[in-house]
Amino acid sequence: MTDRTWGLIGMGVMGTSLARNFGKKGVPLALYNRYIKGSEEQIALERTQTYPELKEALAFESLTQFINTLEQPRKILIMLPAGSAVDRILSELSPLLSEGDIIIDGGNSHYEDTERRAHLMVQKKFLFLGMGVSGGAEGALNGPSLMVGGDIKGYQLVAKDLEILAAKNKHGKACCGYLGKGGAGHFVKMIHNGIEYAEMQLLAEIFELNLSSPDSSLETLQKQFSDWNNTESKSYLLDLTFKILGYQEKGKPFIDLISDQASNKGTGAWAASSGATTGFPNTVMTAALHARYTSSFKSERLKFAKLLKFAPSVSPKEIPDLKNSYDLSRWINHHQGFDMIRHTGNNFGWELNLSDIAQLWTEGCIIKSDLMDQLCILFKKHSSIFEMAVFQNLALKSKPEWSAVLEYALTMNIPIPCLSSSLNYLLSMTQEQSSAHLIQAQRDFFGAHGFERLDQEGRSLNHGPWHDQN
Ligand code: 6PG
Repeated sequence: MTDRTWGLIGMGVMGTSLARNFGKKGVPLALYNRYIKGSEEQIALERTQTYPELKEALAFESLTQFINTLEQPRKILIMLPAGSAVDRILSELSPLLSEGDIIIDGGNSHYEDTERRAHLMVQKKFLFLGMGVSGGAEGALNGPSLMVGGDIKGYQLVAKDLEILAAKNKHGKACCGYLGKGGAGHFVKMIHNGIEYAEMQLLAEIFELNLSSPDSSLETLQKQFSDWNNTESKSYLLDLTFKILGYQEKGKPFIDLISDQASNKGTGAWAASSGATTGFPNTVMTAALHARYTSSFKSERLKFAKLLKFAPSVSPKEIPDLKNSYDLSRWINHHQGFDMIRHTGNNFGWELNLSDIAQLWTEGCIIKSDLMDQLCILFKKHSSIFEMAVFQNLALKSKPEWSAVLEYALTMNIPIPCLSSSLNYLLSMTQEQSSAHLIQAQRDFFGAHGFERLDQEGRSLNHGPWHDQN
């Protein structure tokens, strides 16, 4: 029988949730999970028995049998951890598939891996897509944001099904779209995650600043976050943060039971290093990534905290209002992410449309927010956040408050890597004359790297008189 419309590979949390989402919509499914004696046995079968929406799905541990139930051209969605597992399954699948079959990698793969795999798959005449999926398990189940790249013909064949799977925004539009060849979808997902890291870290910084005030408590902070969530600061991450603060165990705040060492699965590091290697400043997400890394050095932190006991330099001040600084840092974080997309997209020939990308992120994903709704509209007219009047007004209005927040944090010895790096970026990007001429002179002094002179036309390299006069 070859009556299965979709085949799903990998029954982890995301794979299972996407399968259930398809199942709820009545899509005939074949599910495959590998067999590993003692650790992964009858996983797909167990899913069909556990979830009513999967009871009609067929479950397999044999790839050949799984493939043979799929109608042609076959549509296969792979949901495996990024890395070698994806390469392995592609090489196992290749001999079993036919020309024109569509393979989608829906994991968090690195976009460069997706580029490589797209070249390989095109040689085998398969239609390969790399798809970023955001929204966690709940999004995958009820409607994720889907960022798709790869073979356009393949996309056209699955677009309708993916739109059924995806979240719908408040205008009823599916948060699913084709972004370009090769790794475009995974590239955009990677930047999504970079923005996500910084959004989370900004909230963590506001949390710590707020609790440093003697008048503050988890209850008052929760109330404040909840109030902010009724303003233009509204976001999914803010919403879940104030909910987290309300949880208790045995009368104690649950948050206090969690170790203060943040983990990561690598996508934030990819996003940060992509800025570093392509030459685009993404300081806010990079600061967030390094804040996680720093947090993980717990034993050193404990040791150094004893060695270096900083006293507050002056008596604690009243905590300044934090909201505008928070909002402005978020705008700058989004600016850096979208700017990376614009520039890198151009380099790859992806022609990424920022308004369309913001639209994909208005529902279903982790960084959905009212800001994203605004950006979706504003990017139709502007290519950069710095050109938007609403951002300019916020920046001009908030600068004094922001300075007060930084001063307060320094006084209270509270690290605020994202709040401060976004301010530094704002100051750097609005400076007519930077200090980089000194860097150029230094480079030339020790390495004869050359510099451009202001009193010369054109881009010729010159050297300074450094060694002539020694
Ligand atoms: C999403 C998330 C998700 C991400 C996890 C874990 O959009 O649903 O970005 O894809 O993998 O949030 O990321 P870290 O473990 O690196 O925090």
